[in-house]
Amino acid sequence: MSAPRGEFSSRFGFLMAASGSAVGLGNIWGFPTNAASNGGAAFLFVYLLLAFALAYPALMAELIIGRRAQANGITALRSISSGKKSRIAASVVGFSGIITVSLILSFYSIVSGWMIAHFFDAMAQIFGISTVSNWLTTDHPVRNSIFVVMFMTLTVFIISAGVRNGIEKWASRLMPSLIAILILLIVYVFTLPGAGDGLRAYLVPDFSRLTEPALLVGAMGQAFFSLSLGVGTMLIYGSYISKDENLPVTGGLVALLDIGIAVLAGLLILPAMYAALANGVEIFDVNGQLIAGPGLIVSVLPSLFETMGSIGIFVSLAFFLLMAIASLTSSISMLEVPVAYGVEHHGIDRKKASIAVGVVVTVISLMIVFNFDPLFDMVVTFTTEFSQPLLGFAFCIFVAWIWRRNDILLEIKQGCPDAESGFFWKIWPFYVKFICPVAILTVYFQ
Ligand code: PFF
Repeated sequence: MSAPRGEFSSRFGFLMAASGSAVGLGNIWGFPTNAASNGGAAFLFVYLLLAFALAYPALMAELIIGRRAQANGITALRSISSGKKSRIAASVVGFSGIITVSLILSFYSIVSGWMIAHFFDAMAQIFGISTVSNWLTTDHPVRNSIFVVMFMTLTVFIISAGVRNGIEKWASRLMPSLIAILILLIVYVFTLPGAGDGLRAYLVPDFSRLTEPALLVGAMGQAFFSLSLGVGTMLIYGSYISKDENLPVTGGLVALLDIGIAVLAGLLILPAMYAALANGVEIFDVNGQLIAGPGLIVSVLPSLFETMGSIGIFVSLAFFLLMAIASLTSSISMLEVPVAYGVEHHGIDRKKASIAVGVVVTVISLMIVFNFDPLFDMVVTFTTEFSQPLLGFAFCIFVAWIWRRNDILLEIKQGCPDAESGFFWKIWPFYVKFICPVAILTVYFQ
């Protein structure tokens, strides 16, 4: 017996949830630093192109399968497959998505834990408790474990409350706050000396970099990770969209919000880094590259906040709150993938399924925390550079080559009755059938 399924109550609810999944550490941390180290606006240009031409069609593939099947990833992919072989392939892809997304969550929760620790550090500074502050900002497995558990508890708490009372309610509160904090921080950072240099590093294009494979691979990986593609998060959120909703428009809005917030984040991070430089903080590594790894968030930016005097504590509070919100709205979408499968396929109660999956992911995270050097980079590379693009490729194959074209059109027509004569239907099928798979594989093998 499967439990009754949830549904988002409105387009706004879905938009906040899906853009909440998409907008995460990838946008605020990954995108700006990727752009700055890969030719500034040249990267931005390629990113926009790939995001609209490759990632948006792949996003639509997941949303359409999800809404049609009204089911978790494995059941959904199986339901659009007709032969025995394709049903087996559907199960393999669905399971791989569940494993990949759980592994992504296991490293994501570690980084998100750092954000919460730094948020508490700003609080401790406000109350003048410097011993606590030192402990919070010193990288240590015990500190990291505590914050992983805290972050995963929050994630489980929201997911166990269900689609409307958990995901939609929290995403609708958190996403508008995220946008407001981001804009306030940008306005403030623009007033700092040195910010203009950051803006130049971000926005002045170096077109000589356009042909570099690293730029292409970086931009595609960024677009896929950022739109949470390939692992079934968008499919499961799509399965909770009402049948009256116009899918091409709604999916387009999610892509626009995701890209818009990434571009905005660049207006915060790069001016902030160059403002830090103007204050004597080192922002380049030994190879002369901008510091882009953990050092940026846990050392460069905190050093900048320190140079701002007492206002810096509040800027730091706002910044780490922004990062924590961005992480949480993404992590809930990751946890929903295995939980929905457990609830629908095995009839497990939602609360029990959320706790059980949450515990498994937390244990994996703790294993990574205590074996950080060998494991962290390996899990990140395996999931985001190897597994995610391949699964994105598989989703395109399922929609374009296995699912019947007429059924797809019927699904899109619900909520968009004139789809057949519209622009979307004229080019999207061709895109997912030929352009997306070939482009994904080409960039992948680069
Ligand atoms: N899109 C998120 C980000 O940009 O940080 C990361 C993400 C969320 C990846 C959900 C995968 C996923 F299923």
